[in-house]
Amino acid sequence: MLNMQELLSRRTLDIDVSGIRRVFELGAKLDDPINLSIGQPDFPVPEELKQATIEAIREDRNGYTLTQGAPELLERVRARLASELGWDLSTGDTGVMITSGTSGGLLLSALALLNPGDEAIIPDPWFVIYPTLGNMTGARMVCCDTYPDFRMTAERVEPLITARTKYVLLNSPGNPSGAVLSPDELKDLVELCARRGVLLISDEIYDTFTCSEALSEGRFPSPGRYTQDMLLIRGFGKTYGCTGWRLGYVAGPEPLIRQMAKLQQYTFVCAPSVAQVGMARAFDVDLSERTRIYQRRRDRIMEVLGPVTELVRPQGAFYAFVPVKPDLGLTATELVEKALERNVLAIPGSVFSRRDTHFRISYAAPEEKLEQGLEILRDLLAG
Ligand SMILES: Cc1ncc(COP(=O)(O)O)c(C=O)c1O
Repeated sequence: MLNMQELLSRRTLDIDVSGIRRVFELGAKLDDPINLSIGQPDFPVPEELKQATIEAIREDRNGYTLTQGAPELLERVRARLASELGWDLSTGDTGVMITSGTSGGLLLSALALLNPGDEAIIPDPWFVIYPTLGNMTGARMVCCDTYPDFRMTAERVEPLITARTKYVLLNSPGNPSGAVLSPDELKDLVELCARRGVLLISDEIYDTFTCSEALSEGRFPSPGRYTQDMLLIRGFGKTYGCTGWRLGYVAGPEPLIRQMAKLQQYTFVCAPSVAQVGMARAFDVDLSERTRIYQRRRDRIMEVLGPVTELVRPQGAFYAFVPVKPDLGLTATELVEKALERNVLAIPGSVFSRRDTHFRISYAAPEEKLEQGLEILRDLLAG
């Protein structure tokens, strides 16, 4: 037998997946659990997108697309950037590329920007891929502590910027917190990044699921409304319930997108072809009802858990990041274990953070299960 420990790279060995694996292993032992750990929508893919994708298969659109993406989807994305954010795509200064999920955009941007020893600033709590971008590139991912309100503000980011900082990675609405930055907070962050010469990358995978009170002038608050000199990373998977189709897009400075396209050409080659063709219809689909349903569930979570915790009201995505009161004398992992004993599956904050004081629940779950889970969690949190 080969000694794989000796053959495997530091890059992969240093990535610790034990926390999340443990939750899945424990969950697998449960019979019909109340599963509040899932990070994907509980809605089916809209029928018109299913049909369009099936047609694409039948029309033999099954081969590679251009590295940059299928023309019909690229065109729709470009139109969307112009209408939603007011971006001018006529000058050639901004590039757009379809990626293999939002993860594809996150990885390619890190590969294109980070040398070993460079730094990038990420939020704590983070989305699980963010720290691993450091493992993959040899760069240091510097954590911006955003507790207790989970806002990655300019004030919190500025002291972390050094001569080695390449980018600041923002995620609003945030996973796991559901926090959404306000237009003023976004303007400050945009201004800070421009002043200090670092790139702002905005992971907006949950843009559609923003609660009404966090919208500005009825629209999603993106830093892209204040600058075009940034990298926008968006996805289709969470929005349309097709996370397995692996589709997202990036838009930003053309010299960066060109390098990301080169890297895509030699890694992913292209994003899944038939999904790209089908998704060209995506922006015609009205998702307001789904957004309203998520908002209603968010309100219900606040009603049930608000009185027994200092829970920060989520304003987007479909997660709540619930604090465990210190006087319970339990870490979040210990509380999650107690919840498991009662058949409820949640994810301890230590998976997303240097702290183990909160746990994440997802409300992309059937409502009766959510109700049952909330009752049990309320009991546990009340002590
Ligand atoms: C904040 C954030 N970014 C990116 C991703 C990855 O999304 P995709 O499935 O499009 O690669 C996720 C998935 O959970 C996420 O929560």
